[in-house]
Amino acid sequence: MDAILIRGNRPLQGQIRVSGAKNAALPILCATLLSDGASILRNVPNLKDIETTSALLRFLGRDVTLDLPEVRVQPATREANPEAPYDLVRQMRASVLVLGPLLARYGRARVSLPGGCAIGARPVDQHLMGLEALGAKIAVEHGYIHAEAPRLRGAEVVFDMQTVTGTENLMMAAALARGRTTLVNAACEPEVEELGRVLNKMGARVDGAGTSVIHIEGRDELLPFDHAIIADRIEAGTFMAAVGAAGGDVLLENAPLESLEPVVVKLRKARVEIEREGPHVRVRRLDRLSPVDVATAPHPGFPTDMQAQFMAMMCVAGGRSVLTETVFENRFMHVPELSRMGARIETHSNTAIVEGVRQLSGASVMATDLRASASLVIAGLVAEGETLVRRVYHLDRGYEQIEKKLKGVGADVSRVKVSSEEP
Ligand code: UD1
Repeated sequence: MDAILIRGNRPLQGQIRVSGAKNAALPILCATLLSDGASILRNVPNLKDIETTSALLRFLGRDVTLDLPEVRVQPATREANPEAPYDLVRQMRASVLVLGPLLARYGRARVSLPGGCAIGARPVDQHLMGLEALGAKIAVEHGYIHAEAPRLRGAEVVFDMQTVTGTENLMMAAALARGRTTLVNAACEPEVEELGRVLNKMGARVDGAGTSVIHIEGRDELLPFDHAIIADRIEAGTFMAAVGAAGGDVLLENAPLESLEPVVVKLRKARVEIEREGPHVRVRRLDRLSPVDVATAPHPGFPTDMQAQFMAMMCVAGGRSVLTETVFENRFMHVPELSRMGARIETHSNTAIVEGVRQLSGASVMATDLRASASLVIAGLVAEGETLVRRVYHLDRGYEQIEKKLKGVGADVSRVKVSSEEP
């Protein structure tokens, strides 16, 4: 089992290249199911979730060539099979993104329910409600979603809450539906906007992606596409928080600044300097961090995917900060681990009160989700002594070569083998 060993307490200095966005690449890979030609995706990050999605697409009758950062997807000679089994879906919740495309393209789909996960129940009721509004007959039996519709038809869908993958599933289904679909209270995340760009390249008419009302004019057929994925705002934000915590001066190559605005505003308030330098972004922290309160919210609010990393940074700020998680009901699993490293955090339901300390102390820690693991790496960078972050497979789901990138800016980080899961 891999672990990451960090000897902390040294500033970061140098350059890091930001990879393509995982959460943009996943729906776009699923969108290849909507057409019969060969599609090409560029700037795809080398991550476990990309491998899992490729395995799923292969299972669904596609030839997938991974020549990362390039991926080519085309129909295989064998018969397509619109079924996503539990074994693949349980590895990655985002697998539910094949539901909309399969149903629209084949008139039926059978997709395993993703089930609960570490950061909350995460139901898919909004995905199903939306597809029903487009005319699908849906049944949930034996842990599987069965969906059927000879041809979907455009409709107005009003989401009860903003859901990122729910919006994406509906956009993809609507792109092959007869007529016009309007999605109201849609998620506004930059990755949703990016999917809209790809569906437009495929010949659908998508208007308003990136806002809360999206119009989609469906087509009888969609074309294959060639598309370079946007840079990963959460990866960029994670490195910004790392510099914030550890101090130093790092140039983030190709960091997306606009889509990170809600995070950048909070980082600046905490006295992290962030400046655009052409297509790159310079991040510097010279003075002690100031405490800053944060409440997560759907885009353009502060992203829940940055909450854990920001908290790690606040652990060493000069005072008390309050972090409120409003998107997921159980997203403070990093708190007990950060506390083991000397952080002073109290939680009351969805609020964490962080009392900054001068320094953290290295420990053996593990986390149960991707961003929580990233927060432990950040804490390790600012801790005195050695930190061993276990269960690195969470990190590998979403961060491309994180230890190499950190090493490149002077961190003492290495991947090591550990024999057991016990700390
Ligand atoms: C996506 C991101 C994930 C991010 C999250 C919130 C991908 C692959 N993943 O996840 O990294 O943390 O957005 O920004 O893009 N909900 C329901 N019913 C539904 C759907 C969602 O109640 O049918 C709830 C969820 O439980 C959660 C909230 O809505 O409380 C937002 O979830 P959602 O936006 O759907 O998250 P994901 O799309 O799964």
